[in-house]
Amino acid sequence: MQDINRLKILKELYYYQNIGFQYIDDIHISKKETTSTNFSLPNSLLELESIVKNCHLCQLSKTRKNVVFGEGNPKATLLFIGEGPGANEDSTGKPFVGRAGELLTKIIENVLELKREDVYIANIVKCRPPGNRVPTDEEAKECSPFLLKQIELIKPSIIVTLGATAYKKLTNDNTPISRIRGETINFKNIKVIPTFHPSYLLRNPSAKKFVFLDMKKVKLMLENLI
Ligand code: URA
Repeated sequence: MQDINRLKILKELYYYQNIGFQYIDDIHISKKETTSTNFSLPNSLLELESIVKNCHLCQLSKTRKNVVFGEGNPKATLLFIGEGPGANEDSTGKPFVGRAGELLTKIIENVLELKREDVYIANIVKCRPPGNRVPTDEEAKECSPFLLKQIELIKPSIIVTLGATAYKKLTNDNTPISRIRGETINFKNIKVIPTFHPSYLLRNPSAKKFVFLDMKKVKLMLENLI
């Protein structure tokens, strides 16, 4: 995988920088080396987390305070995916801990009647985009193997994507969130329910009724899994 070669080179360069190098000669890598596919991410969330915490694959690593890997039940049936960490998440290293996070926790507790620890919460990108801008396609692409591995390891039955960006970057479907929310989309044999982002609800409280409907649907789906 090309990305892992970049990761290895960056790690090496950071090592040189740490021991005082200001400059090194060009590194020549053959095409064969850059397209090698003999790398795979670990089959353990803890090991994956330690790799992600040392990631420098995109520019977000330069401005982040903390990597926000995600948290929750590693065997969760329900996985929430947001867009990317904001300022509070960047400071604490935890997903959805600001005002939007408080609202998400309320939705989990009051509508789904679950505890936050029962579900897993992750993001499309693990590092804060400066000024809370939308992550670029490049940033989302660099981070996507990590999210896909999280999904593979957690094996959720249902994924709720929060907001337009999370849905679009996960599925590559450009259907507007206002049209697709509440639908059930098949992604790698997992049911994806897109809904509005809690930050959007803070700005547009009248949209809460739609998220309430979407979460009622998720609750029913979870009950039917048992
Ligand atoms: N918004 C997101 O999309 N993710 C977080 O973790 C926090 C706010």
